[in-house]
Amino acid sequence: MSRLVELDATGPRKLDESDLDPEKGDIAVCQCGLSEEFPFCDGSHSCTETEDADTCYRYVEDEMSQQLQTVVRIVYEDGTTEAID
Ligand code: FES
Repeated sequence: MSRLVELDATGPRKLDESDLDPEKGDIAVCQCGLSEEFPFCDGSHSCTETEDADTCYRYVEDEMSQQLQTVVRIVYEDGTTEAID
């Protein structure tokens, strides 16, 4: 399984002690790319539990929720394409 995510940051986010969870004393960093609190995990990774291991996905937000779509190919601006296995 994999997923395409869009990030708009142009530099690193440096973490410090204020980022520690006061109850757990740790920092959970999002690795799924779906968190609304990125770079921190907010539990949104639960959406990925039903993803198929051999499929690439893109989550598209609408007004009500996140919708899961399957990515089968990428079309680049120059017209070339890339199939996603
Ligand atoms: S790992 Fe991304 S929200 Fe938890």
